[in-house]
Amino acid sequence: MSHRKVYIETYGCQMNVNDTEVIFSILAKAGYERTENMEEADVLMANTCSVRDNAEQRIWGRIDQFYGQKRLREGVVTGIVGCMAERLKDKLLESGRVDFVAGPDTYRSLPSMLAAVRPGFPQINVELSREETYADIEPVRIDKNGVSAFISIMRGCNNVCSYCVVPYTRGAERSRDPRTIVREACDLFSKGYREVTLLGQNVDSYLWKGNDGDVDFADLLASVAAISPDLRVRFSTSHPKDISDKVIVTMSEHDNICRHIHLPVQSGSDAMLEKMRRRYTREWYLGRVAKIREVMPDCAITTDIIAGFCGETLSDHEDTLSVMRAVGYDYAYMFQYSERPGTLAALKYPDDIPAEEKTRRLNEIISLQNELSLESNRRDVGKTFKVLVEGPSKRDPKDSCGRASNNKMCVFPSAVPEKGLSDCKAGDYVNVKVLSCTSATLICERV
Ligand code: 5AD
Ligand code: SF4
Repeated sequence: MSHRKVYIETYGCQMNVNDTEVIFSILAKAGYERTENMEEADVLMANTCSVRDNAEQRIWGRIDQFYGQKRLREGVVTGIVGCMAERLKDKLLESGRVDFVAGPDTYRSLPSMLAAVRPGFPQINVELSREETYADIEPVRIDKNGVSAFISIMRGCNNVCSYCVVPYTRGAERSRDPRTIVREACDLFSKGYREVTLLGQNVDSYLWKGNDGDVDFADLLASVAAISPDLRVRFSTSHPKDISDKVIVTMSEHDNICRHIHLPVQSGSDAMLEKMRRRYTREWYLGRVAKIREVMPDCAITTDIIAGFCGETLSDHEDTLSVMRAVGYDYAYMFQYSERPGTLAALKYPDDIPAEEKTRRLNEIISLQNELSLESNRRDVGKTFKVLVEGPSKRDPKDSCGRASNNKMCVFPSAVPEKGLSDCKAGDYVNVKVLSCTSATLICERV
């Protein structure tokens, strides 16, 4: 069964992208080859997301597409892995359209599952594990730029936010051995990577109990930052209830830990936060923001917001708009509440905000955020930043693009011969000065 070609589509979060890289690594060892062309693949799979209903609906459409390939070509095997596999195992098998269903903690068993697939005998493994972190697996990087990579530092989640399906699809939280994380980051650096993003559902609760003492998230950040001043370190996601002063101070002590914290607020209303089981109040949240700004005035803060959660009144919604103004977010991911079967909210609270009203509130949130993003970018006009070059700009190939430490996308001329500034390439650091902006980009000159 060697050199069979595998095609994987990835949906959902960065952690899922990293899981796909782990899957490619496991399958490569078993003799499989990666392909980006569905039509030549022997094995087709989707690494799926269950976070909102529309994510799942899209994936059902892809399952039909995969099934089409199966009917066209003999011997093609199709499967669903990841969060949706975990949540909808039986329904997926009953559809008769997939040959295997594998949950997020079962990727080591994929080669044996694939070997066992026979027509009419689908394979399933959705067991969740208390230990699996894939710590020893060297992911096959699927990103194209060769400059920035993601490292999963933990798996699962122990917070039971009432709207969220993740604890059910990814199981209990477990942290990965920090030595394997540092080794992976060193290895990436030696291969030319210049930025690593440490990933976890709640990085602030990272904890490794080692023989020579405990390693918490701040310690881990410091160890990764120590690899080289030329290696940038980012991380996601922070939890407002858990982000510690030690983490904030550790960031400020290292120039190469990027000045950006993704701190999902979800809602600005205490009543909603309580129902969401977020375990902080608006006041606590604003207190954490004040601390971040006190220690690092130049630190960008981004967030996630849910519009139209169960029982959300107009005044709760106003509280969300006002918390957004109070923080002045640099960027936000904004969603309508989508009820997920099996979650606490689905069991306890009616999903009672009409769809049109959810959309109206979401649109209000989006247009406010567009203003805030533009204001935030305007504040950066005239400033200089060190940018890690990612490659040519999509708009104009004579320009390059890359991110400043605060995660904002900068566009600037690749070369300025009259200033003696030669062409820059992906992985270089360049200094830029911001000339103007849109709500999404800083337009810069090289200095
Ligand atoms: N409905 C809408 N948005 C959700 N999120 C998580 N669960 C839901 C849901 N049921 C959002 C949260 C989270 C982000 C990853 O997705 O804002 O932070
Ligand atoms: Fe990632 Fe959550 Fe989607 Fe799972 S459900 S893929 S953890 S965003």
